[in-house]
Amino acid sequence: MKLFDVYSLFAINIVKGKGTRVWDDNDQEYLDLYGGHAVISIGHCHPHYVKVLERQLCNLGFYSNSVINGLQEKVADRLGRVSGYDDYQLFLVNSGAEANENALKLASFHTGRTRVLAAGHAFHGRTSLAVEATDNPKIVAPINNNGHTTFLPLNDLPAWERELAKGDVCAVIIEAIQGVGGIRLATPEFAQGLAEACRKHGTVLICDEIQCGYGRSGKFFAHQWLGIKPDLITVAKGIGNGFPMGGVLISPRFVPVKGQLGTTFGGNHLACAAALAVLDVFNKEHLVDNAHEVGEYLIGKLKELQETEPHILEVRGRGLMIGVDLDVPHKDVRVPLIHQEHCFTGCAGTNVLRLLPPLCLTKADADLFVSKFKHILDTL
Ligand SMILES: Cc1ncc(COP(=O)(O)O)c(C=O)c1O
Repeated sequence: MKLFDVYSLFAINIVKGKGTRVWDDNDQEYLDLYGGHAVISIGHCHPHYVKVLERQLCNLGFYSNSVINGLQEKVADRLGRVSGYDDYQLFLVNSGAEANENALKLASFHTGRTRVLAAGHAFHGRTSLAVEATDNPKIVAPINNNGHTTFLPLNDLPAWERELAKGDVCAVIIEAIQGVGGIRLATPEFAQGLAEACRKHGTVLICDEIQCGYGRSGKFFAHQWLGIKPDLITVAKGIGNGFPMGGVLISPRFVPVKGQLGTTFGGNHLACAAALAVLDVFNKEHLVDNAHEVGEYLIGKLKELQETEPHILEVRGRGLMIGVDLDVPHKDVRVPLIHQEHCFTGCAGTNVLRLLPPLCLTKADADLFVSKFKHILDTL
C-alpha cells in the first residue's frame, strides 16, 4: 500500500529530538524554530515527559470513559489553576479540529441557533464544522459547505456588531493571534467590543487557542492580552507536547447534559499523563515567562535585522509566535534555511515566515537563528 499523497514533503526523515534540536537519519542536527507546527511546547523528548509517559504505559495505557479517570480530574484541576480558569469545566478530545467541533456543537446546543461568525483568514481545522468556520474554500468539501458561517474582517468591530444584532448567531469564533492567517493580532478594542456584543445578543464567544495558546504568546492564553473572558476556549497542540490531545474549557454557565458529548479516546490515560508532565515542566522551568522574555528578545533582534535587510517588510507577533513578512516568496528563504543552515521554520500565505519554536528556546538559540536567517537573506 502507498501513502495517500496529500502533503508536500521536505525530503528529510527526522528520527530524533532533544530540546530545541532535531536530527535526521544521517545524524544531521537542525535548529527547530517550527516546533512540529507549534506542537512542541516543553521541547523534544524532555526527560521528565519521557519518564512520566513510560511509567504510565507500564501501569495502564488506556481504559474507556465509562469509568472514573483520576488523571483527567488532575489535568482539569491543574490546567484550571495555571490558566486562571479554575471555575471552568474541561472536556478532553484528541485534536484541535475536534475541540472546535465540540465547542461549536456546545454553542449550538446552548443557544438553539445555527449561525457562526468567523474571521477572514481564520483556520479552525478540517472536520465538518471546524472547516466550515475556516476561511479557505479549497479545503471545504461540498458536503461541508452548509452556509452556517459568515466571515468578517478581523478587527472590524462594526461589521461584527451588525451581524450579531440580527440575533441568530450561536457562536463567534476567533484566534487572538491568527496562525495560518499569517500572525495577525486581534486588538484589545476589537476583542472587548466583540465580547460585549456577544453578551448583549446571547452569542457564545469561542477563543481558538489551539496554536496561540498554551503559553506560546507569553501569557497562558493569547486572549489574556486582550482583556476578555470567552465562554469556551479550545486547546490542542502544546497541551500534550506531541501526544495527540485537545480540550474545550467551558464556562460554568454551561450545564453538562449526559451523553450530549463523547469520545472513545479523548482524555485517555496516556494523553493525560503527557498533559500532566507538560504542566510539571511549565511550572518548573517557567516556560510561559520564557516564551515572553525570549519572544520579545527575538522580535527585537528581527526588527533590528529589518533595519539593514530590505527583504524584511514587517515583523509581527507575541512571545514565541512570530511572523516575518518578506518581499520574496517564503520558500526562497525557508528551503535554503533547512538545507543550507539546517533550521526548520514554518510559513503562512506566500510571503510570511512563521516562527513557532518550542517554548524552551534560549536567547542563544534566538541569536543563532537570526544569524542563519541573515545569512540566507544576504545570499538572495
Ligand atoms: C488555530 C487552529 N485551530 C485549529 C487547528 C486544527 O488542529 P488539528 O490539526 O489538531 O485538528 C489548528 C491547526 O493548525 C490551528 O492552528
